[in-house]
Amino acid sequence: MKNVGFVGWRGMVGSVLMQRMVEEHDFDYINPVFFSTSQAGQAAPTFGGKTGTLQSADNIDALKALDIIVTCQGGDYTSEIYAKLRATGWQGYWIDAASTLRMADDAIIVLDPVNKANIDAALDKGIKTFVGGNCTVSLMLMSLGGLFAENLVDWVSVSTYQAASGGGARHMRELLTQMGMLNAEVAKELQNPHSSILDIERKVTQKMRDGSLPTDNFGVPLAGSLIPWIDKALDNGQSKEEWKGQAETNKILGTSQIIPVDGLCIRIGALRCHSQAFTIKLKKDISIPEIEKLLAAHNDWVKVVPNDRQLSMKELTPAAVTGTLTTPVGRLRKLNMGKDYLSAFTVGDQLLWGAAEPLRRMLRILA
Ligand code: HSE
Repeated sequence: MKNVGFVGWRGMVGSVLMQRMVEEHDFDYINPVFFSTSQAGQAAPTFGGKTGTLQSADNIDALKALDIIVTCQGGDYTSEIYAKLRATGWQGYWIDAASTLRMADDAIIVLDPVNKANIDAALDKGIKTFVGGNCTVSLMLMSLGGLFAENLVDWVSVSTYQAASGGGARHMRELLTQMGMLNAEVAKELQNPHSSILDIERKVTQKMRDGSLPTDNFGVPLAGSLIPWIDKALDNGQSKEEWKGQAETNKILGTSQIIPVDGLCIRIGALRCHSQAFTIKLKKDISIPEIEKLLAAHNDWVKVVPNDRQLSMKELTPAAVTGTLTTPVGRLRKLNMGKDYLSAFTVGDQLLWGAAEPLRRMLRILA
């Protein structure tokens, strides 16, 4: 059995990973060693019934003894430890949730239902570094993989509706606190069906603007609003999140000719499901039933939702999808621009296929 170290297992993505590993009995196949940045020496958690002692996450000797390291600790940890560890000659496998190493030539972005062949080829070549993709990219490819696999995509324009969880646990708390404060501001008036809705709206808007909502994490109120920018600004007017769309999609697919992917990334007040609206330029005109068939056949988690009002409202929302591994795609229709212009809408859990699940499955491939 392989000795597998876990760093950052207590955080949000790490916790989802642990939960999924327990559900899938992954601990039966490994010897887990748990690391901590603050509680070394204390008892390790007993996921899968195995016990032990927490090791220090910056103890290079302890890390060096492992066959595989899985980290959800974040980019700063990766930046600090990875190079040091490799410099010792460590030949183990590094599986990482952070974006730090994603675009490195000797790293593969893992999403095995989409790029298992690339992962296998990389393993044969001796690649040892495997990184989870950006959540919107992974979720897009889980839902639209069938079109890419058939080389039908000329280009993709996207508008995202990204959940608070993409920012982190503190962002989710902040959003909910903001929501609660806005509601509290007008709770009395809401109970009276005769109160004026414009008075209610005015009070809510005033509350949003008076500086009293907590905004340490988002910088501005998100509840009742949205934020049309995610991550740093690049020199070309894109946000870094928008840049990742094309860069990571093409790296995951291993395309020889770049497929353009671009659009706007928007933060909205959902908790942990990212949704995306696509305009897809197809390389040829194929029928919607044929498209639905290709999409549905691509992997075990995609689900085609017929372009029907009730079904879209019921099955194609964060409320329906959160906490599940299903990556539905719907609103499929040809646009007015022409027969090879397709619309699509996807939803996916940002913490499952968007973060933890590709890492869990990579570990299983190795173990
Ligand atoms: N950067 C993403 C977001 C999450 O902010 O929603 C991580 O892939």
